[in-house]
Order: sequence, then C-alpha cells, then structure tokens
Amino acid sequence: MQQTNQTSSRNILVTSALPYANGDIHLGHLVEHIQTDIWVRAMKAQGHKVTYVCADDAHGTAITLKADEANTSPEDFISKVREAHETDFSKFLIGYDNYYTTHSEENREMSELIYNRLNEAGYIVSEDVEQLFDPEKQMFLADRYVKGECPNCDTPEQYGDNCESCSATYNATELKNPYSTLSGATPVLKSSKHYFFDLPQFQDFLKAWTTGQTNGKQHLQSSVSNKLNEWLDSGLIKWDISRDAPYFGFKIPNTPADEPDKYFYVWLDAPVGYMASFNNLCKRRSDLSFDDYWLAEYADKTEIYHFIGKDIISFHSLFWPAMLTGANFRTPNGVFAHGFLTVNGEKMSKSRGTFIKASTYAQHLHPEYLRYYFASKLSDTVEDLNLDMAEFMQKVNSDLVGKVVNIASRSAGFIYKKYDGKLSDTCSEPELLEGIVNAGDEIAQAYENREFAKAMRLIMACADKANEYIDNKKPWALAKQEGKEQEVQDACSVALNIFRQLVTYLAPVLPELADNAKAFLNVDDLLFSSRTELLLGHEINKFKPLMQRVEQKQIDTMIDASKQTIAAAPEPGKKAEKPTKKDTSPNYIDIKDFAKVEMKVAKVIDCNHVEGADKLLQLTLDVGEENTRNVFSGIRKFYEPEQLQGKKVICVTNLAPRKMKFGVSEGMVISAEKDGKLVVATMPEEAEIGSVLA
Ligand code: 2FM
Ligand code: ZN
Repeated sequence: MQQTNQTSSRNILVTSALPYANGDIHLGHLVEHIQTDIWVRAMKAQGHKVTYVCADDAHGTAITLKADEANTSPEDFISKVREAHETDFSKFLIGYDNYYTTHSEENREMSELIYNRLNEAGYIVSEDVEQLFDPEKQMFLADRYVKGECPNCDTPEQYGDNCESCSATYNATELKNPYSTLSGATPVLKSSKHYFFDLPQFQDFLKAWTTGQTNGKQHLQSSVSNKLNEWLDSGLIKWDISRDAPYFGFKIPNTPADEPDKYFYVWLDAPVGYMASFNNLCKRRSDLSFDDYWLAEYADKTEIYHFIGKDIISFHSLFWPAMLTGANFRTPNGVFAHGFLTVNGEKMSKSRGTFIKASTYAQHLHPEYLRYYFASKLSDTVEDLNLDMAEFMQKVNSDLVGKVVNIASRSAGFIYKKYDGKLSDTCSEPELLEGIVNAGDEIAQAYENREFAKAMRLIMACADKANEYIDNKKPWALAKQEGKEQEVQDACSVALNIFRQLVTYLAPVLPELADNAKAFLNVDDLLFSSRTELLLGHEINKFKPLMQRVEQKQIDTMIDASKQTIAAAPEPGKKAEKPTKKDTSPNYIDIKDFAKVEMKVAKVIDCNHVEGADKLLQLTLDVGEENTRNVFSGIRKFYEPEQLQGKKVICVTNLAPRKMKFGVSEGMVISAEKDGKLVVATMPEEAEIGSVLA
C-alpha cells in the first residue's frame, strides 16, 4: 500500500444502502443515492481517488414470496429486478463504479469467512427459540407474516411486532387469535435452534466507536451517537442471525450434520455485500486492492463511508462495526444517515400519486431537476426532506434556468455573432472573477461536509453577482452604441467566465449539464483545480439551450402517471398484463370481484361501549328478514353509542366472522377514513332495511 497524505489525494470507498430486490426504485431511494453520488463526484473533483459501490439486497423471505407470486424462481426474479434498478439509477446519473448483488459467490465467501471468524473467536452462541410456525406453508413466520389482536388493546389485524393503534411492542407469540398472513392458518408454536451474534461482548468497543472519531472526524452524527448511547446504556442483547429453511440466502457453514440447514438472516450478509461488491470490482480494476480498503492494518491509508437512511442506523452503527472488528476487519470512518422523504409535507402516498417511482418521474421530468432540488435541501442532519412540488418548480426555474443558464444565454449570442465566437484576450473584471474563484473553497468544504444546501446557496449567490454585473453593463444596450465593441466583448467574456466557474461548482450535482456546457465552452474539462485559469482569447461554440423550464403541466402529468402506474404495477419480474381499452384505469377492479362483496342497508338497533376495549363499539344491526348481526367496530373514539342508535348504515354482510376477545364480529360497518378519523356512512331513512347495495 502506498503511503497517502490526508491533505492531498485520499483513497476513499463509498457505499449507498443496498436496495431490496423486491420492488421498484422510488424517490425515497433516490434521496440517498443522489446524495451519495453528489458527494462522490465532489470528492473526486477535489482530486481524491473515490470508489463508489452498491448492490441489490437480494435475500430473505420477502423475495421468495414475490418470486412465487410472479411465478418464477428467486434467482430469475432478482436478476430482473437488478436490471430494472440499474436502469433507473443510470437515468439519474448515479455513477457507481460497481453495482452488484448480494446473491454472489464473493458475498457467500465473505459472509462465511466473517461468520467463521466470529465463531472461532467465541462471538457466536446458539439457543433454542420458540416461534410461530405456519403448518400449511411449513415455515416459521417472521413478525410481518403474522397478524392478530394486540395483546395490550385488542385492536384486531395487528402485526407480530407492534400495535399500530396503541404502539405497544410485543412478541408475535403474544398476539391473540394469531393467523398467518401467508395462508390464513392458525400458527403453532415450534422450537428450533438459532445462532446469535453475541453483541453484548462488544459493549465497550461500541461505546467508544459510536462516540469516536478518525482523523478528527466523528464516526457518527452527534444526534445519532446520542441516541445510540441511550440504547447502549440500557444494554445490548444478542442478535439472532439465523433463519430456518425455506429461506432464500446462504447456508450457515459448519452446523451439525444431523440438524436441519440454517441460513444467514438477510441482514447478516447484506452489509457484507459492500465488501463483496468492492471485491468483485477489484477483480477487473488492477489499481484497486481489496486488502488496502478492508484490512485493519491499512485502516489509516484508506477511508470507508456508508450513506444510509435513518431507519437502518442500528444495523450500520452497532451490528456492522462489531461484526467487522470481531472478524478482524477495519471499521468504517463514517456512517452518514439522512432523513426520510416526504412529498408535499406528507408521507409518500399511493392514492395521492406522491409515491413516485424513479422510472415514472424520469418519463416526465429531467432527472437533473431532482438532483438539484435535493441538493438544495440536503444537509448533514437526519432531518426529513420534503419534496414540495411548487418549490421544486420554482427552484429549478428561478435558480438553474433563470440565474445560471441565463448568464450564458444572455452573453453567448453576442460573442458568437459579433466576435466569431472569441472571448476577450484580457479579463476586464479580475476582482469579480477572483471573488468567484475564492468562493470555491467554501463551496468545496460545504460539499465535503454534506452541507449541499449551503453549497447551492453559495453558488447561487455567485450567480446573483454575475447577473447583477450583466444588468449593470447592459451589453444589449452597449451593442447598439458606436465604439463600444470592446466593452461588449469584455462584458460577455466576464459573464461566460463566471458561467464556467459556476458550472464547475455545480458539476457534482448536474453532471450532464456540465458535459453539455463543456461542449458549448469548447473545453476538455471543467476541473475544480483549473478554475483559476480564465478563458482568454478562447473560441467558444454556438450556444444551445442547456436546460428547459419546468412547466406545471409536466408535474401534473407525472403525478397522474404515478397514481396510475402504482395502482397498475405488476410485481417486478412479472410481465405486465396488456391493458385493454376498458381496464386502463388502475383504480378499476373486475366487476366479478366487486360482486363478491355483499353490502346491505342495516339499522343500528343497539349500540354499546365494550368493557375493556377503548377503541371499539359493539353494534347490533338489523340486516333484514329478521336477521341481526353483532359487529365490533373501531369507531369508539369518534362516536358516542347514542349518536348511532337507530341510524341506517351499510354493513358488509358476507365477511367471514372473526372471533375476538369480546365475541364474534359478524360483519363490517362501512365508514370513510381521513387522517385516521372515521365517519360512518349512513343511508337515508327511506332506504329499506336488508336491501342489497348495487
Ligand atoms: O433497508 C434496506 O432497504 C436494506 N435493503 C438496506 C441494506 S444496506 C446494507 F446493509 F446492505
Ligand atoms: Zn394495541
């Protein structure tokens, strides 16, 4: 390994979290991959050697199930998803050096090596665990595949780990009346041997690592290390790293021959996928060596940074450093967490069309708009980032088109038409140019600190200066005056030199615009280091518009298309049904499906609170022909019993009866939901009890 100097060129390996190979890339993924890509490009622009790897996270139960649904093998399924992911990311100009998959030989070998080393060092223990088992599917059920009533508040339909209604956390085995979401069967308790990574042995190491630093830089953002320290203080527990067959993943090596096969839990081999993707790249890049980047002995010569979302901090900042150190590898220099993406202030929503897939966005809007918008909002914190469509349009139009590109479009024509494309031989405003060159240092620092919003503000402040200069000089007016030819050429040359600096600063965010600007400016590169050399006596090419304004219509069409593609989406890897004329709207269901639901006008003949259930009301409904139904409905928060007494409501009468703690619920009352608030749908007095809604 060659000695490197921290102040000159650094050797840096960077990763973004590995997207699951079970769904499409959406704008939430893009926040992270765009953030990482901008950082990588900015660090490369500073002359550092940066390698950026990623991969699909291809293992786990969800993938087997999706492959089953798509009628294909997991291998085939993940390979199609990977292709789609790579296509999406390339549209957004994410410049990975390698995009691989965790389902690879390199990853198998590395996961086994790490596991064996941990095992030999005494960090793996085994214990029998009782878990819910689906007797029909013949498989153990992960928490999200079991539902039942909350053991705390009895709300039905809660998942096996926590209750969405009262926020209680519990074990799936505590759910009341549990059922498998895969088969509907009632699960049984079954014991099986599990392997655990003995995290508590790393308590002291993690306490130091999570608050520590390398070369004066904290491993974690302070808010993150504070949070982790609260967890560390309350004590770590062993981490279950094994899963029973059937499981799509790698078999755990060296388990007793007379025991059933065990597989690595997907979260064990996923981060190892960073190493495996890099190793795969090393095979075709003679300038890179795996050992230089991962062996503990070279840790001060190279740097590793992981960009992740805030939801997976514990995997990257506790389990992963402990696994690496326990297996004698080096630990990362930094784990950089970002917040979640909201759209128009709310969680991405399929029905509002704000669950936007990367491919849908790219069909309607230029990817560089989004890269700039995200850059203008991103900081080094874990705060959520809101995509506000009005602000998106305003920023792109006013900053990029109105400020930056406008500098070139206002000046290029004069130079091209009146001066044969030649810029002045001398610079008439050296101080103005110097100020913009100097701003580069602060901009570069902001990029490195992941304060992209600050970098964009600094760049736009430079653009404002340039526009002010042009406004004052008024080359269009000078051009009409005699004897002002030199002044016009000088002013436009200053403007175009500033434009060149600005594009150099924006290149990590707008690589395609930078390439097009290179062609227009007739330069081979836009290196940060050569920004001090001005273009003097230099010939430029004809200006072509470098960026179009965003129109509201494009945004509206994209949102509409999102609603449609989300609702119509086939599972990845599954061939889309060819839409026929009548079913092109994704919100349609087949009439046969609708006909299966029987809804009747019902009269509330009794309505009462339910002792011990603060969410439920018990309704006795007259559904006609002297039949009554007992229905439990989660509307207690919104109604007093007397408000519903005597009302005509709509009851789904052919819903399978559900046994609850307080009795059997024999139907469902239709209500309208908005922001968690329920309003019961009522029928007019003249509606006949028992009549079927049609
Ligand atoms: O949360 C996720 O989407 C995971 N697929 C991220 C894995 S990152 C790394 F550890 F592989
Ligand atoms: Zn609950």
